[in-house]
Amino acid sequence: MSARPLIIDCDPGQDDAVALLLAFASAQEFDLLGITAVAGNVPLARTEDNARRIRDLAGRPEVPVYAGCPRPMVREPVSAEYIHGETGIDGADLPEPSRPPESAHAVDFLVDTLSAATEPITLATLGPLTNVALAIVKNPAILANVREIVTMGGAIGLGNVTPAAEFNVHADPHAAHVVFEAGVPLTMIGLDVTHQAIATPPRLEAIRALGTAPSSAVCGMLDLYGAKNVEAYHHGAPMHDPCVIAYLLSPGLFEGRDMRVDVELAEGHCFGRTVCDLHGRTGTAANARVLERVDADGFFAMLIERLARLPMAPI
Ligand code: RIB
Ligand code: CA
Repeated sequence: MSARPLIIDCDPGQDDAVALLLAFASAQEFDLLGITAVAGNVPLARTEDNARRIRDLAGRPEVPVYAGCPRPMVREPVSAEYIHGETGIDGADLPEPSRPPESAHAVDFLVDTLSAATEPITLATLGPLTNVALAIVKNPAILANVREIVTMGGAIGLGNVTPAAEFNVHADPHAAHVVFEAGVPLTMIGLDVTHQAIATPPRLEAIRALGTAPSSAVCGMLDLYGAKNVEAYHHGAPMHDPCVIAYLLSPGLFEGRDMRVDVELAEGHCFGRTVCDLHGRTGTAANARVLERVDADGFFAMLIERLARLPMAPI
């Protein structure tokens, strides 16, 4: 099977970092055209720098990294240093990036690459959807060359950053609205499913036992991430963003249903909520495949096997 052309948009972020390592370790499955960074967990200056540090850790210096939007489309910016630390990848302690980001803006990279594509491109999004939404607004014709969008965001049930909203959607609800209305195949990987993939102590120990620089960085980050989440998720951190890459690698690990999803744009308690029409009450056609279950043991078995493929030490 030929490698799938893929662009990953992200806001590293400790779980983004694990997702990127999983993707970098899967060179046979992914023709990774580029990484685009967006403001989210931490400011853009950190997310793009973190993406480059993780690229080096994975031994994939050839993959271009593009800096994108420094703020959401409309609402005031929010961030999550209280979870991910001031660096955004606290616990990893990675060296300075080996080379600068590309000169093009991430939105222009998305527009130019999709416009010129000779084979449909998959977009995997791990953060607020600002870059992807603005690329669509700038040149809607690019949608013809999008194979699918797989996005970590939203929830059928409760939120995490507010009682109603999940962070990625809450951080830029208007961008999420643009993407959910784009009319391309869209898979939503929300909190309902990512909370089933918890990095428990035994799973972390299995990763630590790999004894490599990447596995050490992963455990350093997830130890902290888990501690910050412990009051909500008991033992360990939910693997939000790695679920996106795992889904692309092994969709059979997941189950979900097609349904209508709307993004609440009205200010107030539910601002940024994904309203998922689980039972078809609106009579509106489905615009997303919403995942609901994951084989967590199968997910971690694949994650550990792939992490083991990465270089022992940064190249
Ligand atoms: O709500 C979890 C999501 O928000 C993850 O992508 C995490 O990295 C943050 O971006
Ligand atoms: Ca993220």
